[in-house]
Amino acid sequence: MSDSLFRKKSIDKIVADAASGVNDGHGGGSLKKVLGVRDLTFMGIAAVVGAGIFSTIGTAAFNGGPGIVFLFVITAVTCGFSALCYAEFASRVPIAGSAYTYAYVSFGELIAWIIGWALILEYAIGNIVVAISWSGYFNNLLEGFHIGLPGWLATNASNAQVGYEEALKTIASGQSLETATKNAKMGYDAILHAPVIGGWKFIINLPALIIVFLITMLAYVGIKESKRSTNFMVIFKIIVIIFVIIMGFFYVDTKNWDPFLPNGFGGVLAGVSAVFYAYIGFDAISTTAEECKNPQRDLPRGMIYSLLICTVLYILIALVLTGMVHFSELKVDDPLAYVFEKLHLNKIGYLISVSAVVATTSVLLVFQLGQPRIWMSMSRDGLLPKQFARVHPKFQTPSFATIVTGFLVGIPSLFVSSSTMTDLTSIGTLFAFVLVCFGVLVLPKIARVKGGSAFQLPYFNGKYIIPALVLIMAFLFRTRIIEALTHLNSEGYQEVLFLVFMVIAIVTAVKSFLHSYSIIPIIGALSCLYLMIEIPAISWLWFFAWMGLGLTIYFLYGRKRSVLAK
Ligand code: ALA
Repeated sequence: MSDSLFRKKSIDKIVADAASGVNDGHGGGSLKKVLGVRDLTFMGIAAVVGAGIFSTIGTAAFNGGPGIVFLFVITAVTCGFSALCYAEFASRVPIAGSAYTYAYVSFGELIAWIIGWALILEYAIGNIVVAISWSGYFNNLLEGFHIGLPGWLATNASNAQVGYEEALKTIASGQSLETATKNAKMGYDAILHAPVIGGWKFIINLPALIIVFLITMLAYVGIKESKRSTNFMVIFKIIVIIFVIIMGFFYVDTKNWDPFLPNGFGGVLAGVSAVFYAYIGFDAISTTAEECKNPQRDLPRGMIYSLLICTVLYILIALVLTGMVHFSELKVDDPLAYVFEKLHLNKIGYLISVSAVVATTSVLLVFQLGQPRIWMSMSRDGLLPKQFARVHPKFQTPSFATIVTGFLVGIPSLFVSSSTMTDLTSIGTLFAFVLVCFGVLVLPKIARVKGGSAFQLPYFNGKYIIPALVLIMAFLFRTRIIEALTHLNSEGYQEVLFLVFMVIAIVTAVKSFLHSYSIIPIIGALSCLYLMIEIPAISWLWFFAWMGLGLTIYFLYGRKRSVLAK
């Protein structure tokens, strides 16, 4: 059995070890138990409200128009189903490690490793996007004080090139560079003035690196300090967002909501990765299970409360944003600040930039806390070198893993641009959600942890309902299915992904009929899969390359050194 790729961890041992503070005998040491339900809800909001709602929503609204609000609802429902499944796991497997640990007890080691590896996309790669967004808003703030960083220290080479070309077009059309966009001016400055080293123009995003460095230090020093800063940042950003919604409603012109779906539903779906990215984070609190006072009761509540609060805020923001200006003007990096500046409310625009800096800081912090805790779990299981489980004797935080996370996020954030990173983050996270949802179906065989307050996922029999829903879906998608089948050779990877999704949906419907699967996890898994296939195929290639690297490492290292192999 110990040779099996699907060897599983025993849930009883996990729970017993967690209760006694034992750490699998890997010299890990235990973490401080300081978090309650309010802290967890705050942490969830801290992780969710950030670069997505302050930046990536702009392009999504530009493509989808006011109808983008539907995508916020669909994504919220999808995340809600996944959150319920996460909550079910969190109440049964109350130790750090998130979906990774959940997969270890339900599907076994190989899938657990794959999930752990995919979660690096959510946490570390996701944080690269946040650091870049932070840097953009931070530069806005500096400009408010008339302090401008040289362009070559404030962006990356690819964005600089795009901005430079835009600036050249502006100049060629006889207009002054002053009339060009911020990005164009920065790109122009960067390309003209960047020092040349070894034939390369040296263009880096220095603020992104500095913020990652500072946040890594905070995460290193301790969960309690991090908790205090998180609570403050969350209160501030929620107040600003509510203020924006209330102020914004006075400036809504309902003519901007007509047409509601200017580019049809296809335009709305083009925003999947950006909108889903805005919701990522509620699951991150499951990585702090070992630091919770009562994880079985508080973790599920924290996840669900934070998701509910963010959903309401997002839907209102999307309505206000698309009501204040015409959707075609929203393709900017700082849409929330932009709409107010456009209406000559510059002070509010500036306040929003301050809030965006605070919001993205808190996202950075939660993810920078989450990644080391996942590695710590993987290391305790023997799948990563044991340094990753080392706990600092004074600060009681996973010290080595925290520093590695700092490098993994900080160095790329100096050089890369964020769009592919956003797609990769969304694919990796949706992938984890799919496995958590399917994992719940395996759970009934695993005993529930004793204690009346633990969360329990309600069971609704899907024997007939799931096949019926899949049939309705096939009917609604009939044109797409026929086109995908008839043009399979020429339509490209996106349609192949769609057909794979349909096959999985049909197999799931048949199995649901045979085994009376519960509705919530199945709808959660299928809706996550559907959002996944809407993400551009090119990002899927990166995703497969990343997973290939992960599997190679597992077979060369983790498989032999796993605790379960002994
Ligand atoms: N949801 C997080 C953000 O939007 C990742 O920044």
